[in-house]
Amino acid sequence: ENQVTIVCIHLRISGRGRRGRLGEFVPPVNRTQQEIETARATALDDLKDPLARNANLADDQPATDLARSAGEGRENWIVMIGVCTHLGCVPLGQAGDYGGWFCPCHGSHYDTAGRVRKGPAPENLAIPNFAFVSDTVVRIG
Ligand code: FES
Repeated sequence: ENQVTIVCIHLRISGRGRRGRLGEFVPPVNRTQQEIETARATALDDLKDPLARNANLADDQPATDLARSAGEGRENWIVMIGVCTHLGCVPLGQAGDYGGWFCPCHGSHYDTAGRVRKGPAPENLAIPNFAFVSDTVVRIG
């Protein structure tokens, strides 16, 4: 299954999709094995922001690919708030120097785990509270 339905409890957007723009949300992204492996191969020392920024984990959790994903067994899924951490533009998916997201406003590049790699953005793309309530439904918020 490469799509999930999103159910947002506190937030105003719902939708479905692999990548795209839905207001504040990048829909959950079903990453390819290549995208996962590329992110896993990145040394944590190479990251601009070393923290996972994942609301489901402790604040000091490092930004490993697993910590950025939906967790063990769901490493292919990544759920993020689609707001650039610089000044709040909406990054474009499957774009930029690292094959993840690119913010066209001032040129921030995020990798396939949504971690900022280049440009003025100070933090990785934020991961909201979410839970898979089934294999095909994600509750956000
Ligand atoms: Fe994204 Fe400035 S708002 S780079």
